[in-house]
Amino acid sequence: MALETKQALARAVIFLGPPGAGKGTQARLVAGEFHVPHLSTGDMLRESVSQDTALGRLAKPVMERGDLVPDDLVLRMVEDRIARTDCANGFVFDGFPRTLAQAGALNHILERQDFGPPVVIFFRVADDILMRRMTGRRTCKVGAEIYNIYDFPPKVAGRCDVDGGELIQRADDRPKVIRERLAAYDRQTKPLVEYYRSQGMLDEIDAAAGMAAVTASVFAVLARPMGRP
Ligand code: AP5
Repeated sequence: MALETKQALARAVIFLGPPGAGKGTQARLVAGEFHVPHLSTGDMLRESVSQDTALGRLAKPVMERGDLVPDDLVLRMVEDRIARTDCANGFVFDGFPRTLAQAGALNHILERQDFGPPVVIFFRVADDILMRRMTGRRTCKVGAEIYNIYDFPPKVAGRCDVDGGELIQRADDRPKVIRERLAAYDRQTKPLVEYYRSQGMLDEIDAAAGMAAVTASVFAVLARPMGRP
């Protein structure tokens, strides 16, 4: 989708919301439009698992259960990543922070690295929609493009429209694990909605809407100077 954005992002953006809310889909668009990194802690962890690193070996069983990976491991990974030069003009967090401890630590990390307060966009979607989105999701093995067999199928079944890569289903997108992920979200991540709202930092969008409407809502928030009205 071609969107006219004449300004630089120049800040940290946080996409907060339940699993399957569409954070990754929108983060890819924002990152492409502003030429900044899309920092998905889920993608980073999955990469560590597939490369069988020490972090990946610790994270794998936790992710397979649908639980959250321990804060200290995630925080180290994030701090190292945003210290890299490609993050200097801003970046989009997708799936981070996910606990109050991560949010508190992120404040210090952003301060240490001379970033101002983040823009936080909360993706509001009901659970029944989330189940359909996650069970229907397929991801390109090559470029990580995101499809949905119900709502956004590829032109050729099982193949990415962009590069022809194989489309795969995530190991944690099975109903049993999805239920655990939703429970972990309710327990550990949902409190962040109130945490950011109480500081006047939360922008809430209707993420149950169609793709174009959600994209318009996200870009409307980012078009405001420093994200505030
Ligand atoms: P992670 O990879 O972050 O998964 P998640 O938060 O559970 O989010 P998802 O990737 O499932 O959903 P999304 O919101 O990005 O939706 P998407 O755009 O793909 O985390 C995986 C695991 O890693 C965690 O369980 C945990 O173990 C670990 N982890 C990660 N970060 C961590 C952290 N910070 N701390 C501790 N542990 C961590 O869209 C979903 C589907 O819906 C797609 O098929 C898409 O095509 C479709 N769709 C999107 N938008 C729309 C729309 N508007 N209308 C209709 N369909 C849509």
